[in-house]
Amino acid sequence: MDFSEKDSVDAVLASFADTPDPRLREVVESLVRHLHGFLRETRPSIAEWERGIEFLTAIGQKCDEHRQEFILFSDVLGASMLVETMEAQRQAQDATASTVLGPFHVVRSPERALGDTIDSVGTGEPCLIEGSVADPDGSPVPGARIDVWQADDHGYYDVQVPDAQPLGNGRGLFTADDEGRFWFRSIVPAHYPIPTDGPVGALLAATKRHPYRPAHVHFIVEAPGYVPVTTHVFVQGSAYLDSDAVFAVKQSLVRDFAPSDDAATAARLGLPNPFRRARFDVVLQPAAGADR
Ligand code: BEZ
Ligand code: FE
Repeated sequence: MDFSEKDSVDAVLASFADTPDPRLREVVESLVRHLHGFLRETRPSIAEWERGIEFLTAIGQKCDEHRQEFILFSDVLGASMLVETMEAQRQAQDATASTVLGPFHVVRSPERALGDTIDSVGTGEPCLIEGSVADPDGSPVPGARIDVWQADDHGYYDVQVPDAQPLGNGRGLFTADDEGRFWFRSIVPAHYPIPTDGPVGALLAATKRHPYRPAHVHFIVEAPGYVPVTTHVFVQGSAYLDSDAVFAVKQSLVRDFAPSDDAATAARLGLPNPFRRARFDVVLQPAAGADR
């Protein structure tokens, strides 16, 4: 029987019928059904289909050790956030919400002591970020590891501007104290554009989408016996909170970086007074079957 538009799905599904791994078979079959549906709906010419293949090829060619254009593509399509959101539905609802990892967690953050600053450049508005790590019952998680990374006040990560920022600037790996508390100094981050010098940037331009993300600080919080959480703290009042290019804002993660006039704390921590201050209390879900 000739290959036909009407029977195309059945013909291709039959070719995968002997797939031994049931999950792989489910995924491949769904991909074929949706891809053929997409093609029947959009009816591309051969030239358009070749243009699509060229686009995907360019995405792959843009990837290297430091650049992951496929993740960026997934991010701007909302696919990364949809997968995140579905994963979160499997977790307890009272744990801190997760959001995308993003492409800038590229180096191991330098280990720092509680109270240290993650900013070694000295521009920007100084701030204190403090919080706690606890389980859903409110019991502290001593010794939790808190990995943070952020852009500077111009919206750049260290790896993007190695001439302007030493590697490790805006990054820190902290260990919560015996009561699960953490605190560190930084500067208030700025909103910034995702990388636009590749095919994903070209797609955003062609579709009149802006590339900006609202100001945020990334966190990965983990402790033995708990489900790690990858998340952000967003700066309340930042531009683009309502139109994040990668759809990653959750209201529960927005915090006021409020001005604080507290000379004693400023002197104790080595901050100018007044300074900006944000609080982020993290709740970790116990891992199933974990022996803590
Ligand atoms: C980030 O926040 O670092 C990021 C997330 C997704 C795409 C680009 C950047
Ligand atoms: Fe970021």
